[in-house]
Amino acid sequence: MTDDFTLAESAAQFLLSQTPLRPKIGLVLGSGLGGFADELAGATRVPYAQIPAFSRSTIVGHAGQMVIGKAGDLPLAAMQGRVHLYEGYSAKEVAFPMRVLGRMGIRAVILTNAAGGINLEYKQGALVVLSDHINLQGHNPLVGPHDDRLGLRFPDMTQAYWKPYREIALEEARKLGMTVYESVYAAMLGPSFETPAEIRFLRTIGADLVGMSTVSEVIAARQMGLKVLAISCVTNMAAGILDQVLTHEEVLETGRRVMGQFVALLRAVLPRIAGDVGA
Ligand code: HPA
Repeated sequence: MTDDFTLAESAAQFLLSQTPLRPKIGLVLGSGLGGFADELAGATRVPYAQIPAFSRSTIVGHAGQMVIGKAGDLPLAAMQGRVHLYEGYSAKEVAFPMRVLGRMGIRAVILTNAAGGINLEYKQGALVVLSDHINLQGHNPLVGPHDDRLGLRFPDMTQAYWKPYREIALEEARKLGMTVYESVYAAMLGPSFETPAEIRFLRTIGADLVGMSTVSEVIAARQMGLKVLAISCVTNMAAGILDQVLTHEEVLETGRRVMGQFVALLRAVLPRIAGDVGA
């Protein structure tokens, strides 16, 4: 079987052969947040199905394409949609796009997702910069034979979410007059939403948000030395907080509603991250 490094290298070379752009910043746009990539200029759009070894998303609201284009003068590689463990993909498959981005020369990734709000201060539609995570998915993309070319066997996760980027995001959000929080994301396997008892448990162990994505990507990205910024949109309050049923439609609807704010924040943050990675 071909190893992940070799597969990622060939997927990266394939993508770079489709565009003259050489982005240093990657973006993953979560549920209902994909619209940002529609606005990129001079874009090359490659459906995941055409990228060697890439997995395809099966979920409504995740378009499933890599968009390489420019925001202003800044070249970006933006993923519209991602795959999840709950679709039946392994953690390695979920993290594979980070391998590809890393091999393309990406130095910083901004991961976005939809999440349930556990912290009672949060309201639907709030944006939250992740400071840390708790991985309760029972999976890790680094399990299995180790390949030194991808990074360390035991990568440090003390600063999984790059502190200077978190500060940039909080600062720019405040300048834009947005209410923005910084807190801890608990990752669950899904696809069922949590029970109210699980949400009380997550609150007790120090989580403010809950979702079903992101951590496998962050682990792989950090192993490769990519700097990570992650921003959640609180698409709903978590189970048992409000007296209402949770639905995927609500998640998508809230994502769409706050897209404008999200895009404004990304636009403000990107040039400062570009300065850091020399993009
Ligand atoms: N739980 C888990 N994942 C989610 C939620 C939630 O309430 N909302 C959006 N993604």
